[in-house]
Amino acid sequence: MNKSKSIERLDRLLAHATGLSRKQAGIEIRKQRVRVGEEIVRDPGRRVAAGADIYWREQLLEKPGKVYLMLHKPAGLVCARRDDRYATVLELLPDRLARRVHIVGRLDKETTGLLLLSDDGAWSHRITSPRHACPKRYLATLAEPLSEAAEERFAGGMSLRNEERPTRPAGLERVGERQARVTLQEGRYHQVRRMFAALGNHVEALHREAVGGLFLDPGLAPGEWRELTESERSGLVA
Ligand code: URA
Repeated sequence: MNKSKSIERLDRLLAHATGLSRKQAGIEIRKQRVRVGEEIVRDPGRRVAAGADIYWREQLLEKPGKVYLMLHKPAGLVCARRDDRYATVLELLPDRLARRVHIVGRLDKETTGLLLLSDDGAWSHRITSPRHACPKRYLATLAEPLSEAAEERFAGGMSLRNEERPTRPAGLERVGERQARVTLQEGRYHQVRRMFAALGNHVEALHREAVGGLFLDPGLAPGEWRELTESERSGLVA
């Protein structure tokens, strides 16, 4: 799936990815040695989306520039490069992307929802570093009804076991008797689950809806992913 917007001539993209000159790239295309997705393209001037899969002599070419992806994380997969016991979210990507990207802000094995992946370390840092306070929004389904004091306790900062500093003020909005929307500006280990545990409650399901102003694309089923558009990518770190 790809919604990249920028459009380029095929001979330019081929030359850029292979080191061939534009002229050589044009010859390769006319000789029918280049395919875009499933289609063999004979016109060097064909306009192609920058994120398209281009094959030269049946080799898939590396895409130029950085990679920015959103993935709908299903429950049961871990956010790790490899794991001895569980499948990892990287196994949902084609190898060429899985090798390249890192996970931008992990989710627990049972947490679902918006996961970002990229090979741009500076961009990831802007999203995950507490200094930049990029808000992450979660929908939590709880075992017990929300207590009266929940909003106040979240807003006031909470002391968690084995942590020196209290949590930063966090937003809590009641959605139902046992459901709440939580907004965090930091990402400590199992933070949402531990904050509710400190209130004597238990999180039964946790779903990340948004990171900054970027919401999980409702068109992505669990396990599906797509590239971010240019405005989604830049909007996150503006
Ligand atoms: N807080 C949690 O407890 N788990 C997550 O996956 C994310 C935030």
